[in-house]
Amino acid sequence: MNHFEDKNVNLELLKKKAYNFRWAEVPEGVIPLTAADPDYPCSPKIQQAMMEYVQEGYFSYTPKLGFDSFKEAFVKAVKIRKGEEIDPQLVLPIDSAARAMNVIARAFLKEGDEMIVFDPCDYLFREAALSAKATPVSLPVALDRDNRRMDLSKLEEVITPKTKMLGLCNPHNPYGLVYSEEDLEYIMSICEKYDLLIMNDEIWSDIIYKDATFRSIYSLGNERCKRVLSVFGFSKSFGLAGLRIGCAYTTDAKKFEKLVEASEVMSTVGGATSISQVAATAAMEEAYDWVDEFLEHLMKNRDFAVAYINREIPQLKAYKPQGTYLLYVDVSQITTCAKAFTEFLQEDVKLALVPGGHQFFGDLSEGNIRICIATSHEILEEGLKRLKQGVQDYIEKGKE
Ligand SMILES: Cc1ncc(COP(=O)(O)O)c(C=O)c1O
Repeated sequence: MNHFEDKNVNLELLKKKAYNFRWAEVPEGVIPLTAADPDYPCSPKIQQAMMEYVQEGYFSYTPKLGFDSFKEAFVKAVKIRKGEEIDPQLVLPIDSAARAMNVIARAFLKEGDEMIVFDPCDYLFREAALSAKATPVSLPVALDRDNRRMDLSKLEEVITPKTKMLGLCNPHNPYGLVYSEEDLEYIMSICEKYDLLIMNDEIWSDIIYKDATFRSIYSLGNERCKRVLSVFGFSKSFGLAGLRIGCAYTTDAKKFEKLVEASEVMSTVGGATSISQVAATAAMEEAYDWVDEFLEHLMKNRDFAVAYINREIPQLKAYKPQGTYLLYVDVSQITTCAKAFTEFLQEDVKLALVPGGHQFFGDLSEGNIRICIATSHEILEEGLKRLKQGVQDYIEKGKE
């Protein structure tokens, strides 16, 4: 069965169910290639596991530190997919990757501490620092499109005696870059030199195209990674964003205790719901075939979209991502304000995209837009045609 045919995108349901800048939130007729959330329903294997759990009728309290089945499935999956050797006792299921990031920040940062946040990078890193009352400090990491790397040369310049943590998004949202062994070694050596912790977010690590290789920071060895606090989530690879499920993990037992304390799971205030853990466990045990099929579909979408933009819309420059289903597109030739441009597109051609700039990714992303390609070929093609028309109209408008 092909799960990723055009007809499997059910717009009627998405318009009722998909929030966060997506189908249920945009005006009728608008195509939202916005928040990173697939337009396809999740794997039938996940649906089946959830139905079986629901049919049993018990929704009792769960173990405070999460189901063993979840933790066992997680360590097996990260071993097979990424070569990470993680102790199941040091994995904490939690209600979303975003929560895991906040818990890590609140466990290890206090008011006055500084956290290095790459600019650009997903705004959740900044939010995590702020949730701990710490100060996010931007590190500008310009994209070197030709060499498929980001410029890390300013890293030491932003470190002060107050710096306690560095946020690492691997693969990187919004660039779609994976880090080379050399980059990871460099980041780790600087963190060792200044004794910094690393918040390592690998939520995108399943979405790697065939022409790229993902390297986890754990490839540097578990002993060196004792300063690493990691995050995973099930929204991107498995389409389970509404279940709010993810996990935090580490290789240091002492640090794990601090995570548990900050997560408030022992008092039952925090924690992941039983049904979400069941869904995530089924995902890891049974849905990686579905993920691999999704990747084949995404690779076709990626290659089509990048070629289309660079050929048909010469004023724009689309970067071909190595991972993630996000396209980072330079629009600086036609506008200095990406937000004004995306607002224009929504009005003019009924296409919603995410603007670069301070709000979502950081100041350095101004002049860029982000396009989510986790949809059908048909919807993507229509979205890109609208983008082409919108660019022409925007340029015409500028001449008036
Ligand atoms: C890098 C990164 N981390 C975390 C998240 C949040 O994931 P979750 O839905 O599990 O909170 C996202 C979602 O876009 C993301 O891109």
